[in-house]
Amino acid sequence: MRITPIDYSIVHSKIKESGIANIGRASIREIKKLIDNIEQDTGQKFIRMEMGIPGLPPAQAGVDGQIEALRNGVAAIYPDIHGIAPLKKEISRFVKLFMNIDVSAEGCIPTVGSMQGGFASFLTLSRIYAKRNTTLFIDPGFPVHKQQHKVLNLPFESFDVYNFRGDKLHDKLKSYLDKGHIHSILYSNPNNPSWICFTEKELKIIGDLANEYDIVIMEDLAYFGMDFRQDFSKPGQPPYQPSVANYTDKYILFISSSKAFSYAGERIGMMVISDVMYQSHFPDLKRFYPNDQFGYTMIFGTLYPLSSGTSHSAQYGLTAILKAANEGKFDFVEEVKEYGEKAHIMKKIFTDNGFNIVYDKDEDQPIADGFYFTYAYPGFTGVELLEEMLYYGISAISLDITGSERHEGIRACTSLIKRTQFTDLEDRLKQFQLDHPTQ
Ligand SMILES: Cc1ncc(COP(=O)(O)O)c(C=O)c1O
Repeated sequence: MRITPIDYSIVHSKIKESGIANIGRASIREIKKLIDNIEQDTGQKFIRMEMGIPGLPPAQAGVDGQIEALRNGVAAIYPDIHGIAPLKKEISRFVKLFMNIDVSAEGCIPTVGSMQGGFASFLTLSRIYAKRNTTLFIDPGFPVHKQQHKVLNLPFESFDVYNFRGDKLHDKLKSYLDKGHIHSILYSNPNNPSWICFTEKELKIIGDLANEYDIVIMEDLAYFGMDFRQDFSKPGQPPYQPSVANYTDKYILFISSSKAFSYAGERIGMMVISDVMYQSHFPDLKRFYPNDQFGYTMIFGTLYPLSSGTSHSAQYGLTAILKAANEGKFDFVEEVKEYGEKAHIMKKIFTDNGFNIVYDKDEDQPIADGFYFTYAYPGFTGVELLEEMLYYGISAISLDITGSERHEGIRACTSLIKRTQFTDLEDRLKQFQLDHPTQ
């Protein structure tokens, strides 16, 4: 029997009981359930880094706006599918003030979380060209987007961007686009899971290729404004949240309210379709929809049958949040900076104890500190490391399930860890290093 910080026999038996064939490859929700069970049986708290739940209270302006809307009776009334007018206006203002891009209110559409924005876009984009059926993911990425493709039975390809940063990205993307079967590209920026952020050079490469090959870029801004190396918090003032929108007109942005505004529970996000895309006609859409105009089809052809719009009161809540942010009354970046500050401390605790950061650079710059970071330990694959660290009371997910080719890596999420747990983290990692000497 080994002596480990969390009772070895309990962890061992709970892993067995869970029925999960390979813990290291388990989904986020499966890991969550397993750790809940171990915590309950041992009475000990884990350093829980598996799930990307906001660890902060929701934006107050949203809660107030939503309560007021409910009191006014909106719960009884179906919302417009394309979104309520004041929200569309505030989204359009928001992207102008925080990204410096111009998008008409028409193309600013609330969705049931960014998750639905992705689902609806995959569905619609897969039908714009009869001869192109495949989405390209610039990985690592959010596993649920691939699950959505599987549910929809849509083909996708992907590659890990780790070895293709900077100029190398051009030829790598071209090697897929030259085959002629790609209709769109998706990436998140800042990236879940690695927290890399594309440089302006890389965004320009992506935008230029979108123009050259007539493909659509889906830019997932789930962590809007959260590259804390720069201050994106001042409305109407540079620097702005970087975006491919500066280099191409063929884009759809997904802006989640979940992390930036700690509003995950209300399931409301924003889909921002560029004016050019909104107005574009794709005759091949007629195979599935009565209309071939992209924006119209997205709303009345795809979003309508999915959920008939987004929760009415949540739309008012988000309107209030955006209005406050746009007017400079709510500094949403300041609110979430805590994630970056915790990441900075946690990364140091890891690297001081024999671990290394896997995705560590944006071209020649060290990556930002933010919501996630990735780590590895010599001699372990990510899958092995994940399981072994459970005996030390530390949970996370392996990079294997994110399309990463860095098989040694683990993704850690900083959101749920309290600063009071840092000593536990340090003690457990110290013990881990003692038990697994590297030379
Ligand atoms: C990269 C990425 N995209 C999309 C989402 C989903 O966002 P939402 O909660 O708005 O559906 C997440 C949530 O974790 C995410 O990390």
